Amino acid sequence: MELLRTVAELRRWSHALRGKGRNDGGHPIGLVPTMGALHAGHASLIRAAAASCGRVAVSIFVNPTQFGPNEDYARYPRTFEADCALARGEGADAVFAPSVEELYPAGAATFVEVEGLSNRLDGASRPGHFRGVATVVTKLLIASEADRAFFGQKDAAQVAVLRRMVADLRLSAEIVVCPIVREPDGLALSSRNLFLSAAERAQALVLSRAVRQAEALAAAGERRSSALIAAAQRSFAAVPEVRIDYIAAVDWATLDPVEIAAPGTLFAVAAWVGQTRLIDNTILN
Ligand code: PAJ
Repeated sequence: MELLRTVAELRRWSHALRGKGRNDGGHPIGLVPTMGALHAGHASLIRAAAASCGRVAVSIFVNPTQFGPNEDYARYPRTFEADCALARGEGADAVFAPSVEELYPAGAATFVEVEGLSNRLDGASRPGHFRGVATVVTKLLIASEADRAFFGQKDAAQVAVLRRMVADLRLSAEIVVCPIVREPDGLALSSRNLFLSAAERAQALVLSRAVRQAEALAAAGERRSSALIAAAQRSFAAVPEVRIDYIAAVDWATLDPVEIAAPGTLFAVAAWVGQTRLIDNTILN
């Protein structure tokens, strides 16, 4: 596995593969963008990429522009050696780990903003977050010239923003979305789970419980979003230590609220467990 530190190196890596027939359909290049602190959720993306692409690059970059001034950029977990071992073990051919200056050269003044979508759900409580995500993913897609980029449904609003962005900018990469990987007790894997105390770890289960409950109600025929949201609110009420950020039933493409849940409706929750903000969701049948 190669370790690439600069955009020029990533570009050379990708061009060398293209020279070996990338465009004959047999050797697509896969990109798995991450911020490191890799866990089994990231591993599932790398595996999916390796299964469907000739070569896979994993980017590891804690992107400063997607963190707000009072968020956890400085203390975001950084476990680079273990990340490289995991990436290699799951079949990555390259790790792209640039410095901040490499992706944001001095004086950088260019950003990608997906209007409207970027202010919904996580974007509503994290102003500027999706602008940072869209900007860095654009840089990664352009630099890697990837044919496919792999993202987790875990960050469902991020997927909506990036799908819109790729369509609007006419980028050539195909966005592939992979299912949420969970702990055996239901908690969605997240790099931020590392921040949870034992008590908070137990409280955090309310997110997946609320999501499962909405799923079960919808499967039993309840299609009114208000009823699904009310049920989730009742789950949260049983764990008063956890502070709800949002509970929403939305169209996954537009992130607009829907009154009646249809197959494909995104049911999503976000909540503060202590100092840690966690999210979870399901796509209703
Ligand atoms: P990060 O939080 O590191 O996540 C990288 C990818 O892993 C995202 O696509 C995310 O949805 C996916 N992922 C995280 N937890 C998962 C889980 N439990 N199951 C399945 N997939 C999971 O998302 C980001 O980084 C950044 O915003 C990034 C896209 C890299 C841009 O900086």
